[in-house]
Amino acid sequence: MSAAESIIRIENVTKTFGSFTAIKDVSLDVSKGSFTTLLGPSGCGKTTLMRLIAGFHEPDGGTIVIEGKKVNGIPAYKRNTPLVFQEYALFPHMTVYENISYGLKLKKLSRKEMKDKVDVMLDMFGLQGMENRFPKQLSGGQQQRVAFARALITGQNILLMDEPLSNLDAKMRVEVRSELRELQQRTGITAIFVTHDQDEALSLSDRIAVFDKGHICQVGTPWEVYFKPQTAFVADFVGVANFIKGQVVGIENQDIIVRSTDGPIRVNKGDYNVDMGQEVTLVIRPECISIIENTNTDARSENVFIGTIVQSSFLGRMIRYWVQAGSLKWIVDDTSPSVRGTLQGTIKIALDKNKIHILPKES
Ligand SMILES: Nc1ncnc2c1ncn2[C@@H]1O[C@H](COP(=O)(O)OP(=O)(O)OP(=O)(O)O)[C@@H](O)[C@H]1O
Ligand SMILES: [Mg+2]
Repeated sequence: MSAAESIIRIENVTKTFGSFTAIKDVSLDVSKGSFTTLLGPSGCGKTTLMRLIAGFHEPDGGTIVIEGKKVNGIPAYKRNTPLVFQEYALFPHMTVYENISYGLKLKKLSRKEMKDKVDVMLDMFGLQGMENRFPKQLSGGQQQRVAFARALITGQNILLMDEPLSNLDAKMRVEVRSELRELQQRTGITAIFVTHDQDEALSLSDRIAVFDKGHICQVGTPWEVYFKPQTAFVADFVGVANFIKGQVVGIENQDIIVRSTDGPIRVNKGDYNVDMGQEVTLVIRPECISIIENTNTDARSENVFIGTIVQSSFLGRMIRYWVQAGSLKWIVDDTSPSVRGTLQGTIKIALDKNKIHILPKES
């Protein structure tokens, strides 16, 4: 991405607290109008990076450029990057009208000009009739719309959100997140969103930056971080994965043959460069494995393993099975379960050579 396209450019940023390095040499470009998510476990530095962008922390090294302007040394109130924390940081003692118009007060507009602008926002976000309510009298989704309106009314075009959905219940969270995405796309605002919820990150984002211990492991589309993880940490953090280690013992055009502890596995190598004899780690998502029922236990055919179900977990929309096949314990998701009940005993599992990812060498 060129500098011209990116509205926020973070270059080699480091932040220490005493002797502890919370952010290590982080670089990230955020393109205008995109929805970027910082995803990572607790304590990995997500909030610290948001505070650096918003101007509540100063980096110890590196630069932050917002809309073409280096902002190192510029305090938060002079930046165009409102940071929305949990509960969207609405002022609880102010009405919807007062919350939305807050930023305009500093601009010394006439009462009429202010009202006109607020009316446009109320209309845009479907909040008409709610102007005199207080935040606690609104649903989570409505509060979110007020937060958006408050950001947009002063012409801010970047919104930083640090786990804004974390105190909503599971169902509400899903509703509010689709509304959030819709609002972001409709307004064209550039959003940076923090979460440690993988589903949320995958469903909302144009791009995801996966964090671990203060550094970014991978930046990519949800599809890339899920199906083409660059490290075992990313593969594991964005979902459930089977990791199979083996050695390349054959190369046949597009396919490679990997010898695992329990037999050969044929893999479409895609554009991955492998050498004979190379040790590789295969990543296979549980939903990419199929189950073959009513098995006779004849010799296994290619990419098929015979195993015993040792555990299962009913998740409604699918059933997760743990299948012991030789020395390998596979996690297999049956996404189209029979209403008759869960499977038991011996089954065959089949791998699709096109649904296997090879981790790059260095991880
Ligand atoms: N002001 C501070 N002084 C000292 N250490 C800090 C300070 N702020 C954050 N840290 C440390 O820096 C690390 C990153 O913290 P940060 O709040 O960025 O994590 P996070 O990824 O947002 O985690 P969570 O998901 O739990 O919110 C943590 O180990 C934290 O203890
Ligand atoms: Mg945090």
